[in-house]
Amino acid sequence: MPSAFATRFLQLEHLLVQTRQYWQLIAFEQGSIPWEALRPLLDSLCDDEVRRLDGDPDALVGLLSPFIPELEQLTSLVSLPQCNSRSMSFPFWLENGIKGRKVEQLHAFVDALGTIEGSWLEWCAGKGHLGRMLGFMGAETVTSIELQQTLCADGQKSAEHQRLPLNFICKDVLKDDVSQEFKTHDHAVALHACGRLHETFLRQGSAAKCKQLIVSPCCYHLFTPHEYEAMSELGAKSNLNLTHNDVKLALQETVTAPNRTTKVRQKETVWRLGFDALQREVTGNRSYLSVPSVGKQIFSDSFSAFCHWAAEQKGISLPANVDYPHFLKLGEKRKHTTDRIELVRHAFRRAIEIWLVLDRVLYLQAKGYDVEVFEFCPKALTPRNVFIKGVLNNQDNKGEHNV
Ligand SMILES: C[S@@+](CC[C@H](N)C(=O)[O-])C[C@H]1O[C@@H](n2cnc3c(N)ncnc32)[C@H](O)[C@@H]1O
Repeated sequence: MPSAFATRFLQLEHLLVQTRQYWQLIAFEQGSIPWEALRPLLDSLCDDEVRRLDGDPDALVGLLSPFIPELEQLTSLVSLPQCNSRSMSFPFWLENGIKGRKVEQLHAFVDALGTIEGSWLEWCAGKGHLGRMLGFMGAETVTSIELQQTLCADGQKSAEHQRLPLNFICKDVLKDDVSQEFKTHDHAVALHACGRLHETFLRQGSAAKCKQLIVSPCCYHLFTPHEYEAMSELGAKSNLNLTHNDVKLALQETVTAPNRTTKVRQKETVWRLGFDALQREVTGNRSYLSVPSVGKQIFSDSFSAFCHWAAEQKGISLPANVDYPHFLKLGEKRKHTTDRIELVRHAFRRAIEIWLVLDRVLYLQAKGYDVEVFEFCPKALTPRNVFIKGVLNNQDNKGEHNV
């Protein structure tokens, strides 16, 4: 008998396969909007409307569902219960140095953990802000694993100063063998651990039969191969064939991006597309030429300087008489198209994310865990607000479970 999660996973999978023409494409590579029926509607939207719809998933689904009816069903499949968080307060000294929304995220996350007792393992801990809150709330010991020596040193110093029971271990969880740590801790937690980091957490934690594994996943594509490798058996049979481009779609929710960042990103897109139009003309190349990522300061210089830099990266020599304003205009035009294609793709971002989340949930279930999934805070605090909690359902369990 498949679990409710498995049923939901398969329903999501089915709808995502049926609608893949709308999300499984690279917007930059399209010369025009590829869906004829949607073209008049998308072209009629001004940039402000595109931005507004992008930040309002319900309105976006309302707009698109007459053309893509599967979106309505997808919307109900991606909704998760929300944690009714109490308002928590910690002494000011514990929260010193924690920036912006992170404090509120941590409050909500700690609240979702419920009663804190016993020994805790904090995976990819940063400076151990979460670990120190766990220590304050009643954890007997907290072992915080982190790659960066400076973060470990800072975190250890704060914990000692605050007389909290934290012990940092400076290790690379992808290279060093830290799997033993799951055997000596009752609870293990990974808050915003990226891609392969949280996959490793779930694999090693479940192999060690750690009693409780809690993860809030982030940046699903990081440290993973281009072609998505599923964790669960059902995921491995999937026909979605996700690549990094698809998996990154799950992260394209920029509700928390400050305005200045958004503006620079928009300029960057126009310049990259403008350079692409130029390189096509100069080389005769017909497909999108990707240029490496670069520090944002280059976008405070001129478009022509950017084109010279990009041409150098790609070994292209530019003629002396390039009409840069013309190519900048072409970049703007192509961005108009790209934004509208991305808008349609964005209607699917949470569906992709929940599919990825369920892949992890099914993996944990197969390893003998009872699993709960919910949103630990509103999206405005962080769009990466999924909380996956696995509790080992039988400590003697040896075999794998059917899901
Ligand atoms: C997004 S931060 C999350 C930090 C903390 N859990 C939080 O939510 O505030 C991810 C952390 O993972 C650490 N990290 C990255 N790769 C790692 C690795 N291979 N081994 C251990 N830690 C790693 C980074 O240094 C960073 O501190």
